[in-house]
Amino acid sequence: MDIGVFIPIANNGWIMSATSPQYMPTFELNKQITLKAEEYGLDFALSMIKLHGFGGETEFWDYALESFTLMAGLAAVTSKIKLYASVPVLAIPAPIAARMAVTIDSISGGRFGINIVSGWQKAEYDQMNLWPGQEHFLNRYDFCTEYVTVMKELWRDGESNFKGKFLTMNDCKLLPKPQVDIKIVCAGQSQTGVDFAAHHADYNFCFGMGLNEPKKCAEAVQRNVDAAKRAGSNTGALLLFMIIADETDEAAMDKWELYKKGADLDAIAWMNHQGEADPRASLDVSAIYMSRPPSAMNLNIGTFVGSYETVARLMDEVAEVEGAAGMLLTFDDFLVGLDQFGKHIQPLMKTRQGVGAHVQAG
Ligand SMILES: Cc1cc2nc3c(=O)[nH]c(=O)nc-3n(C[C@H](O)[C@H](O)[C@H](O)COP(=O)(O)O)c2cc1C
Repeated sequence: MDIGVFIPIANNGWIMSATSPQYMPTFELNKQITLKAEEYGLDFALSMIKLHGFGGETEFWDYALESFTLMAGLAAVTSKIKLYASVPVLAIPAPIAARMAVTIDSISGGRFGINIVSGWQKAEYDQMNLWPGQEHFLNRYDFCTEYVTVMKELWRDGESNFKGKFLTMNDCKLLPKPQVDIKIVCAGQSQTGVDFAAHHADYNFCFGMGLNEPKKCAEAVQRNVDAAKRAGSNTGALLLFMIIADETDEAAMDKWELYKKGADLDAIAWMNHQGEADPRASLDVSAIYMSRPPSAMNLNIGTFVGSYETVARLMDEVAEVEGAAGMLLTFDDFLVGLDQFGKHIQPLMKTRQGVGAHVQAG
């Protein structure tokens, strides 16, 4: 089972709370996190792109670095871990994204891939007058299909004359070619998003769900498996989870309860308002899912709260979900959390035997 880390490119990571660890996104922090992840044998690191925060008392995600430039910096200081940047398809032309990818492919020695972000949050693009209108909610994955087609043509042929509904290339050139195939990943939850990923991506991220319920994601994974079968592809499902660990179940649960008490209700309300704008929004399969009960405070990311033994067991159970290719991890405190994972949790996992063995505790 592959394991990656969703590095905190925006302030406070993935917890909208005044009582959780408060921190700013800096290159130094993300560098330390990614170097730790590499040391502990994690397979990849992903950074998101977020161009408009949610405000509230914690100014949630009002502070955020840019994804490609961050990953370029990280590519230069790492040597093994795979790196994924997220592209906002409405804000960066496909040939520019393709060229940035070739550049990071060169810096990293072939360790780079792109997460396709179709755009669910109007304010991010409207603030720059880049929002195409309400119809984007309905056709955003058609746009992504053309976008990925152009990038793949450029990487394969060094040129593109693609003529589509949204994009037109006129003798568009891109050399050098990347040294390895640049992987495409996506995080579609809607059926359209999942189908897009099945046709065009190597992996699709889906939400792990619930509190200490590793198998609750089975239905979402199955939707990905079915879509890949229909598309005749091998697109794998990677599950997003948050880890809140401590020496005992009680100590970990105390942190979880503390974070819930400080929930930033204004930031949550703003996110919910943005998510509701999508006419296709449905509670189980779209961005709006993140901002609704039971746990909008951490975007309803499936969460494992417990001792090192408990978390290791729950993570192993995710591997038993038919079709799960791996996991993408977030933490309440990434530096502490990665040390807990690398030194105490991973060594207990049956599915990660021997990984990172040189840095285990005691
Ligand atoms: C692991 C993961 C990474 C994501 N990265 C971003 C991102 O960088 N920027 C963004 O605006 N949305 C991001 N999203 C949201 C997705 O791109 C997607 O819009 C959302 O999951 C809803 O799915 P849908 O587009 O099929 O409705 C991410 C979601 C997940 C689960």
